[in-house]
Amino acid sequence: MQRSPIAELATANQSERTIAGFVATIRVLKRMIFVIVQDRSGRVQVTIERSPPDTPPTALEHAALGLTIGSAVRVHGAVQRNPAVKTGGVEVIARALEVSSAAEPGLPIDEQSASDLQLDWRFLALRRPEHLLVFEVQTAIERAMREYWTTHGFLELHSPKLMHSASESGADTFATPYFDLGKAYLAQSPQFYKQMAIAAGFERVFEIGPVFRAEPSLTPRHAAEFTSVDVEMAWIESHEDVMQMEEQWLHHILTVVRSEHGEAIERQFGVDIKVPIVPFPRLTMAGAHALLREMGHEIAEATKPGDIDPAGERLLARWALDTHGSEFIFLTEYPSSLRPFYHMRPEHDPSVTKSFDLLWKAVEITTGAQREHRHQVLARQAADAGLADSVSYYLDFFRYGCPPHGGFGLGLARLVMLMLGLPSIREATFLHRGPTRLTP
Ligand code: 4AD
Ligand code: MG
Repeated sequence: MQRSPIAELATANQSERTIAGFVATIRVLKRMIFVIVQDRSGRVQVTIERSPPDTPPTALEHAALGLTIGSAVRVHGAVQRNPAVKTGGVEVIARALEVSSAAEPGLPIDEQSASDLQLDWRFLALRRPEHLLVFEVQTAIERAMREYWTTHGFLELHSPKLMHSASESGADTFATPYFDLGKAYLAQSPQFYKQMAIAAGFERVFEIGPVFRAEPSLTPRHAAEFTSVDVEMAWIESHEDVMQMEEQWLHHILTVVRSEHGEAIERQFGVDIKVPIVPFPRLTMAGAHALLREMGHEIAEATKPGDIDPAGERLLARWALDTHGSEFIFLTEYPSSLRPFYHMRPEHDPSVTKSFDLLWKAVEITTGAQREHRHQVLARQAADAGLADSVSYYLDFFRYGCPPHGGFGLGLARLVMLMLGLPSIREATFLHRGPTRLTP
């Protein structure tokens, strides 16, 4: 018999059904055995009647008594409405029970286990419904991203992850031997290749794919491998065009998530998904520094010159919320010293860049910019950064005509983490990769 999702049993009273899932709990009483079975759609009580004490157990009873928590089982039985049952007022009176795969007794984790142990046994942690919701939301997010971009004329790319040179900064790359060509580097972003697509005349492109950063960071917002959401568009006037596209795009994403999963998110995570007001507030970095000075904030000493420390970012986020009712804030015109060589610098002031970061709830989710598309200027900026030789193939993209363009990159797990109020991107990622974790 075909398997019924457990959620459908609520409307299947009095019918015979087969369900399949994991054993969540087992309760053995004198006259009854109650087994809670869980599949992706929900949980249901399976009820097995026991034979009298002086008669040998039936095969069904025998199978139920041998069950272990976590085992994968199929149950065939009669669906019965029973208001006393906690699993949606429905139970399955079992007629047959088949163990497809028995779990070893004693699961290595439960809900109280430390988060690192949860990651060691990620597949077991993921069986909990709140984790499932994370990936249902992620699926909706990615669909909404693609929906927005494909209806606005963007093409989807899949660029190589093995590269001849670093794609962002030289410091944080993973290297691997590569045939007779020496070394290859794992892509830190699809930056160069999405720009190549612009030089190829694609005009509007995006990519959602893995990137790799050898940053030895153990913070809740860093991973050594993450899914990067990247976009690039041609014929822009300035980075402002990119920012306008991004806020419309995020507005669409949050509208979709709210309508499809808003209630479940509220229930599971206590978070109200708000559709943001567009446009988001914007501050230049110079303006942000002035505002922080006015607030009496002193930037922490370890901060790179011109940058803003996390405490400062929190103050700016608070300012955006108080004065504009916005959880989002764009910071723009970062100093050139803080930005990669490919960011364009305005004609009137080469000490800054036509760039932006987007903060959501005080955390950076995006870096973007108008790119330098003029070959000579770009070649000079690459040379100043000491990269002229290693990126010569990239510089070639700009030698035969290239439209002005810009784009951004966004970390998918950061977006999911902030959206659901999760404690770290480890919970927002299927499997985390960090300096101390390469398994499972
Ligand atoms: O700020 P990043 O390094 O910018 C770029 O990669 C540029 N190519 C983007 C562009 O088009 N100008 O990375 C982009 C985003 C960050 O804002 C952050 O959300 C995320 O990627 N990110 C990370 N997420 C998890 N772990 C890490 N180690 C991350 N590093 C960056
Ligand atoms: Mg950044």
